Amino acid sequence: MKASAPGKIILFGEHAVVYGRPALAVPVIQVHADVEIAPSHDDRIWIDAPGISLLSTLDALPAEHPIASIIHNLLSSFGISPPPPFEIRITSSIPVASGLGSGAAVTVAILRALSAYLDRPLSNEQVNQFAYEIEKLHHGTPSGIDNTVVTYAQPVYFVRGQPVETFRAGTPFTLVIADTGIPAPTRESVGDVRKLWEADKDRYEKVFDEIGGIVEEARETIEKGKTKELGRLMDANHVLLQRLTVSSTELDRLTEIARKSGADGAKLSGGGRGGNLIALVETDKAAQVSESLLAAGAKRTIITEIK
Ligand code: PMV
Repeated sequence: MKASAPGKIILFGEHAVVYGRPALAVPVIQVHADVEIAPSHDDRIWIDAPGISLLSTLDALPAEHPIASIIHNLLSSFGISPPPPFEIRITSSIPVASGLGSGAAVTVAILRALSAYLDRPLSNEQVNQFAYEIEKLHHGTPSGIDNTVVTYAQPVYFVRGQPVETFRAGTPFTLVIADTGIPAPTRESVGDVRKLWEADKDRYEKVFDEIGGIVEEARETIEKGKTKELGRLMDANHVLLQRLTVSSTELDRLTEIARKSGADGAKLSGGGRGGNLIALVETDKAAQVSESLLAAGAKRTIITEIK
């Protein structure tokens, strides 16, 4: 039994989304998590995750281990005990801690493969709900945007606690995603934004409102296919993220390099202070912007088309 799930990137609205404002996120199919399940060669459950040098039986892992906890949770929610012995192999090309949703993708791929293997396939809605519970175990107070876009594998307009809305670009557009190579300390940056907000709610609610306004405008712009205008909105969202203290010297420098080398706009993406930035480019400028970013120190770039 095989299943896979794509990476994701947030286009607009990170951080404010934790406070009930909308955000836009899209799948990044160039990177993905893949899971394969087969009957076990003995009577135990085996987990093989070569990317993190893990080869172990389920029993030998602490119950709170990220992979073990997904399997335990699913088995117990199905009321399957004892479970049939199986071997699960997990691979992923999604860089970790960079805002590309690697944790959510691994979780979703495991849930899909294992539920299908056990003959209890889950709907997207169930996968999404389950993956959100798992995200909460590991990330404190996630908004749920990661598991949602990774589960539906379509552009998503996301508001915490509201039914999922997918959307389509009126005209496809191209992004360069560039990794600073610095792990994004998402839990810390989310916590720091909370401290700022607690100290001055009026001020930060206004920042969140401004970000929410940009998200609404961006969705309309994308759906109408007026994508060139998105660049300005990206730049404006980046400035508001700076105000939330979640940018960094490196993110500011690389977004500036992207603009100078031909991008129509750029912003950090995700938790910030590290991780990825995104730059909106005309398709024929993608390679030149990507090369400039790599020459300026970006560790990796992905060129992706949003449809
Ligand atoms: O770093 P990422 O892409 O996983 O995103 C974090 C996004 C935040 O809005 C900062 C937090 C959240 O849970 O939505």
